[in-house]
Amino acid sequence: MRPLKILPSILASDFAKLGEEVRAVSEAGGDLIHIDVMDGHFVPSITLGPTIVKAIRPVTQKPFDVHLMIAPADPYLEAFAAAGADRMTVHAEAGPHLHRSLQAIRALGKKVGVALNPATPEGHIAYVLDAIDLVLVMTVNPGFGGQTLVRATLEKIRRVREMIAGRDIDIEIDGGVEPHTAGEVAAAGGNFLVAGTAIFKGAASYAENIAAIRQAAAAGRGEIV
Ligand code: DX5
Ligand code: ZN
Repeated sequence: MRPLKILPSILASDFAKLGEEVRAVSEAGGDLIHIDVMDGHFVPSITLGPTIVKAIRPVTQKPFDVHLMIAPADPYLEAFAAAGADRMTVHAEAGPHLHRSLQAIRALGKKVGVALNPATPEGHIAYVLDAIDLVLVMTVNPGFGGQTLVRATLEKIRRVREMIAGRDIDIEIDGGVEPHTAGEVAAAGGNFLVAGTAIFKGAASYAENIAAIRQAAAAGRGEIV
């Protein structure tokens, strides 16, 4: 089984003290920092750009997982790479030349991800599997935190797992991940679990919130913790 990673999404953090928040979730056990970039065009919200990524880069050693909910994405890849992104994920729906975008990320020396909206079938990425390191299955419609997981996506996670069998590819789950859903998404095949609301606005400390998700996911994978 591929290693389980928990990725706090800073979308749910207090942006007035973003640096402190990134440091806090890093120290609390977050494995990578998930950064949601939204353009008010591909998705309704606008969040942040490379300037902010660069500003928070010195705060932690944890890898930056940059989720680009923007269209087009290609003109901005270099800037995010220079700002400190370690991985970049583009949406399959964001433009007509997906393979080109994936190659562009690879050429920048970064890990390559492709994201699928809830309505997009997994077959959409059948011919780019050799160009990627990660598939991000959106389990909510992108654009906002705090939504409920769309259950139809559980079947898609299983199908993606079958599709990539034998390849060196991780499956990232984004949206509605909390202790109650982490077991199911991990059992279906997700091994990179993004969580915003459940970590930053959960009932307990960041460390406890992260641990609760990790424990539920591990149990879903049949691991004893
Ligand atoms: C949604 C973003 C997510 C978001 C998840 O468009 O891609 O990363 O932060 O938020 P929660 O965990 O609150 O569903
Ligand atoms: Zn995201």
